[in-house]
This record gives sequence, structure tokens and C-alpha cells, in this order.
Amino acid sequence: MIQIAIDGPAGAGKSTAAKELARRLHINYMDTGAMYRAMAYALMQRGIDIADHAAVEKELGSIDIAVQYGEQGQRVLANGTDVTDFIRTPEVSKGASDVAVIPAVRLKLVKTQQETAEKYDIVMDGRDIGTYVLPDAKVKFFITASSAERAKRRYLEWKAAGIQKDIRELEQEIISRDKTDSEREFAPLRQAEDAILLDTTDMGIEDVLQAVIRRVREVY
Ligand code: C5P
Repeated sequence: MIQIAIDGPAGAGKSTAAKELARRLHINYMDTGAMYRAMAYALMQRGIDIADHAAVEKELGSIDIAVQYGEQGQRVLANGTDVTDFIRTPEVSKGASDVAVIPAVRLKLVKTQQETAEKYDIVMDGRDIGTYVLPDAKVKFFITASSAERAKRRYLEWKAAGIQKDIRELEQEIISRDKTDSEREFAPLRQAEDAILLDTTDMGIEDVLQAVIRRVREVY
């Protein structure tokens, strides 16, 4: 099975690169961040306080997060309802990072991710793919960029969607999420020892893709 692990902090361009890579290689793409986001969204919809870990754990048995692939790419479902269009808000971003600290949540979502990678050739992006979810992946990248550049990219994404955001607020949100992700105890955001580091601050998407594809060709 082809397993390509792409990790890195928020807004580094991982998803854009991973999605396009999967398209060019004709294999599946899994955005694991969307699963943490969907979990946070489902809990928030139920009025659960994510800081209350015991309350979150109590709900876990009755929240099923699944991914589906169709013409619109990956869709993420919470108990069968497509929540893809509701999980990109700042509240859900923060909720995802907070819920991702809880080991029971991670174990549940990681199980689905590993089962998917057993069945399909896959490009998976997240924070702990190379270190924890797919430690044996033969191609691993850690994609990063300066926080100012990442905030700028997010700003332009929102602008393209017709939404005006304060770029300094976006940078603060990114920095705070990176801190939570790097400092959590269980499967934190970390570069795997055998991952290739790509700082994309001054790179365009096509440069990033070429670097990854070169590596894929070397390995497979
Ligand atoms: O990648 P994205 O920004 O959508 O991820 C949202 C949040 O989900 C991250 O801030 C992180 O806390 C969590 N996450 C994670 N492990 C992954 C993917 C995402 O902890 N593999």
C-alpha cells in the first residue's frame, strides 16, 4: 500500500499540497484535521463544554465520525450528517485543537484513519501522521512556513471567499493553535525523525508538489 504522511502546523499549505498530490497520483486523500473539527462541531452542537474532558468522553460512544469521497472531494460526516461546510469557523478551529488533546478522542479517530490506510493507497495530512498514525509510511513530509506567511495565506483564502478578516487576529489564532498542538502530551505536533522538512515560506504550491513528487518517485 502507498502511504504518504504530510504533517505540519496550521495553515502551512499541507492540505492544498496533499489534496493535489493525491489527485495527480490517483489515490485517496484523507484530511484528518477535518475529523477533529467534525468531532468538535458535533460536541458543540450538543452543548458539551470541550474543556470538560469527562463530559466529552461520555459522549464519544454516540458520536461517529466518517469520511466519504465524491465529486466534491472529501466530505466529513458526524452521525451520518454532512458537516463539511460548518467546520471552518474560528470557533470550530479552536474546539478541534482543544478536543484533540483528549487521548480517547484521538484513539477513536486514529482507528478510523489506520483502517482507511489499510484498505486504500493514501495521502494523509495532519499533525501526527508520520509519528503516530502511519509510522511505517515510506514518504513523510513535515511542511511548515513562518506564522506571518501562514496568516497571510489564511487571510487570502477568507478574502477569496468574500470574508474580510483581521490578519493579526488570524496570526494569533494560528500561534495559539500551534502551541496547543505542540504541547499536548499524547501524539503532539512533531516532525518525525525520518520526515523531510519543507519550509514553504518562499515556495509556491507547484514547487512544493514537485519536491514531494520527486520523493514519491524515488521511493515507489
Ligand atoms: O488541519 P486542521 O487545521 O484542520 O486541524 C484542526 C485541528 O485538529 C488542529 O489544530 C489539531 O489540533 C487537530 N489535529 C490533530 N491531529 C491531526 C489533525 C488535526 O490533532 N492528525
